[in-house]
Amino acid sequence: MGQRVGAAMILSIESSCDDSSIAITEIGTKKLIYHKKISQELDHSRYGGVVPELASRLHAEALPRILEECEPWFNELKAIAVTNEPGLSVTLIEGVTMAKALSIALNIPIIPINHLKGHIYSLFIEKESLLPITVLLVSGGHTQVIEVTSYEDMRTVATTMDDSYGESFDKVAKMMSLGYPGGPLIEKLSLSGDQSRFDFTVPLWQSPLIAFSYSGLKNQVRLAIEANDSSVYPDIAASFQHVATEHLLQKLKKYFKSFPPKRFAIVGGASANLYLRESLTKLLSNYKANLLLSELAYCSDNAAMIGRAAIEAYQYGHMQSNLSVSVNPRSKL
Ligand code: KG4
Ligand code: ZN
Repeated sequence: MGQRVGAAMILSIESSCDDSSIAITEIGTKKLIYHKKISQELDHSRYGGVVPELASRLHAEALPRILEECEPWFNELKAIAVTNEPGLSVTLIEGVTMAKALSIALNIPIIPINHLKGHIYSLFIEKESLLPITVLLVSGGHTQVIEVTSYEDMRTVATTMDDSYGESFDKVAKMMSLGYPGGPLIEKLSLSGDQSRFDFTVPLWQSPLIAFSYSGLKNQVRLAIEANDSSVYPDIAASFQHVATEHLLQKLKKYFKSFPPKRFAIVGGASANLYLRESLTKLLSNYKANLLLSELAYCSDNAAMIGRAAIEAYQYGHMQSNLSVSVNPRSKL
């Protein structure tokens, strides 16, 4: 992590939800020079989900503390990249405001980055990109299948009609009073459970739609929780995880009938789920398709993926003057 005289670098900031993170990436080599993330998970855990006002206050404390460590590289910076969409408006503003202040102080442009593109480029941190690729993005805010041809050409071909895959884990964990984020907690609890004990219905199994839905499954799980005591929670968790994942597999199989995958990836916080990784590895072996995964450290929100995406954006000339950058909490790809 040493400084190289004259190297051109981008400083990237991520604050779209509950992770405060800053990275510095060298443009030419794509090398990650610096990366730090301060997670707020424990602070939100007792509320069973992210409290936006608390998240914003914690970003205001954490981001400047991380930024202080980046000062040695300030002279090498060519641009400030920042997640400006989608996410929580009050937390996106924290990162964008810091980016604007840095842009003015260092007299360099801002590169606004779409968080979803960041997740996709988490696959290529310190690497060349491998495109085209079909990507399943599973996070707390999104469940979608995206055909990625280039940084500028990404097409969403399937999305969720209500909750996301990761969000459904969070909600089930909350119903069981396990804490937040629910994904890793449910995955761990499932290890000691019997996934065939509860015969939950796979969402949209009869529908020709290639789309996702998790609200019905969540309600089935709620009824099972209400009808049983906590000794049965591992079986409920395992049965839920199995059906939530089976739903993804069924819809992907349907999609693959028309568009067989050559190269496929799973990204987003929930792509850390080993049961999902194993199930998709099996599915993809039927198509002899390559499966790409982000390193576990870069599955959940982080600034390294924003910095990697920013290298592409920089090469496409997506720099903006600081006053023209706005926050778009609900934007899509
Ligand atoms: O990508 P991310 O950090 O934030 C968003 O962009 O939303 O994803 C966070 C989500 C949370 O819903 C969390 O419960 C879920 O990813 N998650 C998991 C696992 N680890 C994190 N879901 C299922 N299994 C996991 N192991
Ligand atoms: Zn994310």
